[in-house]
Amino acid sequence: MAASEAILQVCVGFVPHLYSSGSYFSKSRSDSRSSIRYRKRRGASHLKVLKCSISISSQFSHVLRGNVAKTQLRYAKCNCQQSDSASGISLEGGNGAWFVDNAKEFSTINGNTPNGLEFKEFSSEKDVTSNSNLPNNGFITDTLQTVFSDSIEDEAWELLRESIVHYCGNPVGTIAAKDPNSSNVLNYDQVFIRDFIPSGIAFLLKGEYDLVRNFILHTLQLQSWEKTMDCHSPGQGLMPASFKVRTVPLDGDDSATEEILDPDFGEAAIGRVAPVDSGLWWIILLRAYGKCSGDLSVQERIDVQTGIKMILRLCLADGFDMFPTLLVTDGSCMIDRRMGIHGHPLEIQALFYSALLCAREMLAPEDGSADLVRALNNRLVALSFHIREYYWIDMRKLNEIYRYKTEEYSYDAVNKFNIYPDQISPWLVEWMPKKGGYLIGNLQPAHMDFRFFSLGNLWSIVSSLVTVDQSHAILDLIEAKWSDLVADMPFKICYPALEGQEWQIITGCDPKNTPWSYHNGGSWPTLLWQLTVACIKMNRPEIAARAIAVAEKRISKDKWPEYYDTKRARFIGKQARLFQTWSIAGYLVSKLLLADPSAAKILIIEEDSELVNAFSCAISSNPRRKRGPKSSQNSYIV
Ligand code: GLC
Repeated sequence: MAASEAILQVCVGFVPHLYSSGSYFSKSRSDSRSSIRYRKRRGASHLKVLKCSISISSQFSHVLRGNVAKTQLRYAKCNCQQSDSASGISLEGGNGAWFVDNAKEFSTINGNTPNGLEFKEFSSEKDVTSNSNLPNNGFITDTLQTVFSDSIEDEAWELLRESIVHYCGNPVGTIAAKDPNSSNVLNYDQVFIRDFIPSGIAFLLKGEYDLVRNFILHTLQLQSWEKTMDCHSPGQGLMPASFKVRTVPLDGDDSATEEILDPDFGEAAIGRVAPVDSGLWWIILLRAYGKCSGDLSVQERIDVQTGIKMILRLCLADGFDMFPTLLVTDGSCMIDRRMGIHGHPLEIQALFYSALLCAREMLAPEDGSADLVRALNNRLVALSFHIREYYWIDMRKLNEIYRYKTEEYSYDAVNKFNIYPDQISPWLVEWMPKKGGYLIGNLQPAHMDFRFFSLGNLWSIVSSLVTVDQSHAILDLIEAKWSDLVADMPFKICYPALEGQEWQIITGCDPKNTPWSYHNGGSWPTLLWQLTVACIKMNRPEIAARAIAVAEKRISKDKWPEYYDTKRARFIGKQARLFQTWSIAGYLVSKLLLADPSAAKILIIEEDSELVNAFSCAISSNPRRKRGPKSSQNSYIV
């Protein structure tokens, strides 16, 4: 296909989005090669390309500049300058300027003395060990620790910048891992949506917005591409798990190459898992971008609004489900291979809830989406009720389950899901602390997955999916179970590991997920950032500071591994990549947020009082009264 043809195709693909949101739902606007193209050609100039990009709309110049010929790179550059100035505008007004100034101030303070939290941590250690005989030693230790920690941060920034991936001369994401010693890269040379989130947040917190903006807009374009596995197409609106920038020879022209963005929606992924979390993270990042940069023009764009709606429609579509939780297959999130988390895994529910709230905040009011907003509000209430009531577990609830009667056929059954008390594993009886509690990993008929999944619990705090009391209880549990969940490296992805026959049956004897390794009870430094946001929200940042201090002892020396193995996280993971970008970015986000906790507001969602009212209404309602023909009146509209 000639370059100009391809470009016209891309242009034609865009025009309807600009004028009619309806056309987004037709499947025909895809490139047959499922990729966005950027062509470089020696010699030839493509006036048509330029014309096209001008005649459509300046809104799309960013995307269309992918088709600028090599001789016209100055136009690509020109566009780059446009986005620079866009961030300049946002810096001058609102949050941007406020944040940059404060960040500078904080980093100056931080550069000279340890931040208050670290200082507290080290002082208390000193009190215990030094008997206060040599106060100067304590001071020297603190200062050395600060210098040490600053140098780790500098190294992390350098590595994070090196991980940036460019497309069409512009930064669009960060590579999953840049491990120079790994011969088998698999797909770690791609930009993963979920892995990019901490990278994006780190750059936002630094006041560098362009990369995040480009990432948001490019992945948006990929969302609407046609994707098939064999002959089947997954739902419209699915965001890819990852994408790669490839340079390929231009068809029929040996003298030219083109850059293409090549997404993977799961059709190439190991196990062919659908990345349900990608779109949810995308919405969360979009809100954070707007809040941090002050630039709301991105979320207000018609194509971005349509992208949000496509994700929502996919998630809110009716199915056979009895529960308000999102039904997904195994491996549809950070744990992207078989680990017995199919059904209604907590991580997806927490991200789903968070994305619904973020989307509600960003959706422009318009008549056409009233139904969608109503469905969204109803789902929010039902989802928080369901999770707070049925996923929550603490000593009291455990005792209640222990005494459950089973086989109750009635509308007001106590044991609604027919849980057999024998499911309570011996480990849990020992493990549950007197003070504290958590959300279980999954709930299905006659099945509670009692494993503690970290990301789901932490993000439930961040998004207010759980109550304030429950949020504190989760942090209490983390403190009480420090040696299991943090030990020598934060943070265990889930606890405990599947072992023996359970491991054989549930993972399918997966040699990568052996007990206390990788997803099966391995420790993932990237989870530090979610821990930090949750702790800051609950005004308990000292917990995160303590975890960071643990990580700092070895994470840089160990070359920023993807994960650690063994019960206490003593070994670098057997198959862990080194220089894993989200380990690096997760650490940086934690440091930046502890230095300026108020910046965490770009991620935090405070509990909505209207939602709480609707929630109490749901609790007090009698399920029997609701039976009868469906009326449009009986839903909780917030
Ligand atoms: C592994 C992880 C997944 C991550 C990817 C890239 O597959 O399980 O969560 O996104 O690596 O780092």
